[in-house]
Amino acid sequence: MTIAGHYAGWVTHTVWRKKSTVLALVIVSVILVVCLQYNVAGSQERDENDLSKVGGDVQQDKRTLLGGNAMGYSAGNQPPNTMGFPPSPQQDKSALGDDSPYREEPGQSLNDRNMDGSMFNDGPSRAPYVPKKRLIHLDLKGAPPKISYLKKILKLSKDLGATGVLLEWEDMFPWSGILKNVAATNAYTREEVVELLDSAKQNNLDVIPLIQTFGHVELALKLKEFQHLREVPESAQALCPSLNASIDFIQTMIDQVMELHPDTNYLHIGCDEVFQMGECSRCKTQPRDSLFLGHIAKVAGIVRSRHPKVTPIIWDDMLRHLPPSSLEQYRIGELVEPMVWVYAEDVYRFVPLLIWEKYAALFPTVWAASAFKGAFGETLYIPNVKRHLDNNLRWLEVMANEGPKFKNGFQGIAVTGWQRYDHFSVLCELLPAAIPSLAVTLVATSHGYMNASLRTKLNTHLNCGVFAPSSYFNLNSDPFLWDTYSRCTFPGHSFFKLTSRLNTAQKEADELITMIRKQKGWMTKFNVRHNFSTPLRVEELMQDEPRVYHTITSLARSAKDSLSDVFDMDTISEWVEQNIYPTILELEEIQRDAQALKARTVWPRRPLPTLKDLSRLGVQSSDDDESQMPPV
Ligand SMILES: *[C@@H]1O[C@H](CO)[C@@H](O)[C@H](O)[C@H]1NC(C)=O
Ligand SMILES: *[C@@H]1O[C@H](CO)[C@@H](O)[C@H](O)[C@H]1NC(C)=O
Ligand SMILES: *[C@@H]1O[C@H](CO)[C@@H](O)[C@H](O)[C@H]1NC(C)=O
Repeated sequence: MTIAGHYAGWVTHTVWRKKSTVLALVIVSVILVVCLQYNVAGSQERDENDLSKVGGDVQQDKRTLLGGNAMGYSAGNQPPNTMGFPPSPQQDKSALGDDSPYREEPGQSLNDRNMDGSMFNDGPSRAPYVPKKRLIHLDLKGAPPKISYLKKILKLSKDLGATGVLLEWEDMFPWSGILKNVAATNAYTREEVVELLDSAKQNNLDVIPLIQTFGHVELALKLKEFQHLREVPESAQALCPSLNASIDFIQTMIDQVMELHPDTNYLHIGCDEVFQMGECSRCKTQPRDSLFLGHIAKVAGIVRSRHPKVTPIIWDDMLRHLPPSSLEQYRIGELVEPMVWVYAEDVYRFVPLLIWEKYAALFPTVWAASAFKGAFGETLYIPNVKRHLDNNLRWLEVMANEGPKFKNGFQGIAVTGWQRYDHFSVLCELLPAAIPSLAVTLVATSHGYMNASLRTKLNTHLNCGVFAPSSYFNLNSDPFLWDTYSRCTFPGHSFFKLTSRLNTAQKEADELITMIRKQKGWMTKFNVRHNFSTPLRVEELMQDEPRVYHTITSLARSAKDSLSDVFDMDTISEWVEQNIYPTILELEEIQRDAQALKARTVWPRRPLPTLKDLSRLGVQSSDDDESQMPPV
């Protein structure tokens, strides 16, 4: 036997002897290998699931986090078509207002790319995109800022990079003749209008006037004399397009506005959010598409025939769901330029690729509209700059992506600043509270980015002087920019600062009221209704109340002082009534309740008398039931 043979024999022998052990070993190894492979495969599968399960938003946000560049969109990396279908006008409202899917606490947002909200500053990215025209939108609806204040804002806007103004006079225009009651009694005079327009001219700002010619005609339709022009009698929102008188009315509006704006090359004719259409007996017989487009064509025709050098602009939302064939039929592309508005951060969510492609096939050129205030809640008093900056930066990306699809690209962007959501709505953020937001968004849109290199420019134009913040702002920790710019002296700064004090005071008052009314057991409405509490506890609960009350009431006075250079007394009192007065009333009610509860010195035996009003909820004793039985 050779050594090898011997060895083989030994191995065979050993294997044979220990066959059970070897078998076990082999089985264990096989199981191990299978398990490992399964594990790897499994985790890959989970990863894929994670990515495919998350919604469009999160996916985009992930991309943002990974990509550095604001949205991770660039050529060949197309954004997801999150909606896949055009939003209806009702859904569009959410872009203007309640966009709750986006609402998130500052600092917790998934799309925190860099701490400062900056973009284009890492990774290879294209050159910043700067829109040719950059308009600030002045919405004057139901509250006229003083002309002296607006002149300062025009100058500031010019310095910050604006090239023009989109001027929405609404009821602040000196309407005359048959339209004279459309003007508010605190509307501007003709002289004031001329003064403002002169100031714009001196600052080299192009002014584009805006009038509503279909929906949002509340300013006139609310009046008795124009009631008959409503599409539906119950709503003052939309004009009936089938009445000749409607067309006469629009023509008069156009003529009056154009007379005071002889230099303009554009007239914005509104046409967003036409909530009632094709409902009256005259319109019912026609398809909604042709009603809408026929009206646009008619109004655009009036503008172009009476003012040949003027191009009409319309808001785009009503076009989003219209088929290209109808748009072509009415030659809308040759008549008007659309202004695409999205004020929430995620522009593509509201205007997806399909719509951009439709627009590009129809219109040689297009406008964008972002926002610096008045977009995230009807009753806010301070704009969230983090969100508005995000909206504007994302628009720059969208413009860079979509512009080349249009023959003549984008005309520019209007940075809108809504004063009310509509004619009937209360005031939202006032202009002086939004100057830092205006500054940041204008500087961003006129440079194509926002980062620390623009800090000095902002400090200079916001007049920060020796109080210039020593570092670049952090929008996650300071989304309203109160910490950054409260000591700067831009026009309206004292009101801006007041909103920060109001925020603190309001929080303190809310906490106190909740504590007194809800959390603690001696001053609830039950205690008050039954006049049943212990004075010592009431005393204790009311300890901080006088201080909180004093803070809030003094804010009302400071609001008046800080707004007196900006608005008239009607506007100041509306704002105070909306934002400060309710808390004062609530605290005063608490004071009265405390007085009454403390005045009592003896109390009845229990049970306390039942509340009569509960009987309508079926909560009553059976005795009461019987006594209330009708006599047989
Ligand atoms: C409206 O005007 C058109 C053309 O000017 C005319 O033919 C039509 O009869 C008018 N309709 C009414 C209801 O007055
Ligand atoms: C800011 O962004 C611009 C444009 O991308 C870039 O050129 C510049 O270096 C950046 N500056 C800072 C301080 O990040
Ligand atoms: C509660 O009792 C006090 C003292 O008797 C009295 O002055 C007050 O009017 C009472 N309030 C109510 C709501 O009954």
